[in-house]
Amino acid sequence: MGEYQTILTEVHERVGLIRLNRPRAFNALNAQLMQELTDALSAFDADPAIGAIVITGNEKVFAAGADIKEMAAATAADMLTSGYIDLFDRIRTVSKPIIAAVSGWALGGGFELAMTCDMIVASETAQFGQPEINLGIIPGAGGTQRLTRTVGKYLAMEIVLNDRRLKAEEALRFGLVNRVVPVERYLDEALALAQQLAARAPLALRIAKEAVNRALETSLTEGLAYERRVFYLLFATDDQKEGMAAFLEKRQPQWQGK
Ligand code: CAA
Repeated sequence: MGEYQTILTEVHERVGLIRLNRPRAFNALNAQLMQELTDALSAFDADPAIGAIVITGNEKVFAAGADIKEMAAATAADMLTSGYIDLFDRIRTVSKPIIAAVSGWALGGGFELAMTCDMIVASETAQFGQPEINLGIIPGAGGTQRLTRTVGKYLAMEIVLNDRRLKAEEALRFGLVNRVVPVERYLDEALALAQQLAARAPLALRIAKEAVNRALETSLTEGLAYERRVFYLLFATDDQKEGMAAFLEKRQPQWQGK
């Protein structure tokens, strides 16, 4: 995985870490970065030695959004055919849990990238916003949809229509982040959370992620039916037998991912 130019990848035990790395452009998400990010995510997703993934920026900025220099002269047809936004959709297909470790600015596509992840650990300096309105556009990578589903219509309106920024503590209050920690600790905290996830039963973890995501897509009746089917399905796995045997024998389970 050493071939990337806009991201850095590291492996910490069973966790794959991806650092967005265009510091001079405030980690603006240009097409190359989005391509490399999704390639790295797919590689970690396919690697059985990896159980969970963390995406981070640096202490000052997670990502300042899509690359405005790259987009400024684009036509609608350019945007449609570039496949740029489609890359955000590819992140949704990753089966392992992804944690965004956010410090500093997460703006525009940067905020949308964080919201595409499964959990968000924020530093006290994190700031979230959708400033696209200042550029004469709107969020294009889920900002009007994921944000509204999380914080509700009225606050989402203010954020999207009027560039209202949220500081870390506000984001925590509105359910947008899982926890807020001092800036020196946000990455360690995210990695520790990812290690916990990576130690869990892999198939149950994957199905649990799918099931929670399904809740955002379906009616309650359909969602409950889906949950029941995948709940039954897990009784076909060795890990279910092992997990319950370990409980009854008062020992730690040894997960096989089978
Ligand atoms: N695209 C390209 N370059 C960017 C950028 C972006 N989104 N954000 C920052 N940069 C660059 C600046 O152009 C500047 O580069 P130069 O030194 O070469 O001029 C450098 O990063 C530092 O930026 P500033 O001088 O502006 O630094 P600051 O500390 O004064 O402000 C900031 C930092 C608040 C993040 C500010 O840069 C900013 O507001 N950035 C734009 C945020 C934005 O509008 N994001 C939405 C993009 S559109 C989008 O994301 C669409 C979508 O839904 C997918």
